[in-house]
Amino acid sequence: MFIERVVSGMRPTGALHLGHYHGALKNWVRLQSEHPCLFFVADWHALTTHYDSPEVIEDNVWEMVIDWLAAGIDPQQSTLFVQSRVPEHAELHLLLSMVTPLGWLERVPTYKDQQEKLSERDLSTYGFLGYPLLQAADILMYRAAWVPVGEDQVPHVEFTREIARRFNHLFGREPGFEDKAREAVKKLGSKRAKLYQELRTRFQEQGDEAALQQGRELLELAQNLSMGDRERLFGYLEGSRRIILAEPQALLTEASRMPGIDGQKMSKSYGNAIAMREDPESVRKKVRTMPTDPARVRRNDPGNPDLCPVWQLHQVYSDDAARDWAQTGCRSAGIGCLDCKQPVIDAILAEQRGFHERAQPYLDDPSLLRNIVADGCDQARKIAQETMREVREAMGLAHG
Ligand code: TRP
Ligand code: SF4
Repeated sequence: MFIERVVSGMRPTGALHLGHYHGALKNWVRLQSEHPCLFFVADWHALTTHYDSPEVIEDNVWEMVIDWLAAGIDPQQSTLFVQSRVPEHAELHLLLSMVTPLGWLERVPTYKDQQEKLSERDLSTYGFLGYPLLQAADILMYRAAWVPVGEDQVPHVEFTREIARRFNHLFGREPGFEDKAREAVKKLGSKRAKLYQELRTRFQEQGDEAALQQGRELLELAQNLSMGDRERLFGYLEGSRRIILAEPQALLTEASRMPGIDGQKMSKSYGNAIAMREDPESVRKKVRTMPTDPARVRRNDPGNPDLCPVWQLHQVYSDDAARDWAQTGCRSAGIGCLDCKQPVIDAILAEQRGFHERAQPYLDDPSLLRNIVADGCDQARKIAQETMREVREAMGLAHG
């Protein structure tokens, strides 16, 4: 159960497009067979910026889950849930807010950036300032080891680590910690206890990071430890506090080179996107009318693929043979631009056939979808409730 959990979320602000697929979802699909994964719809996060258009959120929650399933996220392997249906996220956000310095939030780079970028919206709200803290709650709730995100989100994961450290520092203290930790070591069994002690000494006396890592792995694999003992042993390995909230690491998703139909990065806000489940006729039309190298005015003008957005799509979708064909044909004016676009159209449509097929059962029977999400919410809540028990207790709120 403690084996390196992965957590990530997406805001439901529109139909997902090929950029989301190549940039994030393909990576999620790969991860789900390697780790226990939780993927959730960050509807509260969407509200921080779209509070004036709740209908956008309402419509897109379900559509987004269908897009995930269409991409190949397998509900047997991954836990899929909706943030607002696990209200523990709000409680953890509130409790973390007690110890979050305002300056930390104001200094998160996305805060000012987004306010400037989305200047048509009033983002001088309490909720928007707290965006990264809500995200920290999402991640810390599940003691995630890894958070697959794009580069823009890395500061949020860093912020999450700082919050975890501060929380453990403030609330991981307990009377008799050393004694309790030593008792817990014995529960590892003599062989593992000895290894644990060695690793702890190597880290504490020589700063050996590899030993620290090995010690953590040892604990992740150890069964039959109570939650409290586990926290003590994680903490005792490196210091004198329980580690109640685990520090996650960003799993940087390589920036997708997915261009939109104008050659800029594909993005809904640039109006250059092709949706994952777009109608085939519309895809054909969009690609056929894509701009190409402006120097190719007439069919027999040679072109330069480096100046053409269609070539960028070939780099995503074509094999070497098709790329050679496009390069040679373009530079020698041997092919026309419509010829050149056809294999790209075919490849996109082939990819999308898979999406449409996987989505169809859920369109035919929406109750399938609702059940998957209901199960996911239950599973997520189970973990969340365990975490909240520990957090409340550490913060002096275990009076129930
Ligand atoms: N802020 C993320 C984004 O805009 C979405 C998000 C919310 C998230 N909570 C998260 C991502 C937790 C990873 C983990 O993309
Ligand atoms: Fe672009 Fe292909 Fe036309 Fe060359 S032939 S300009 S690469 S579409």
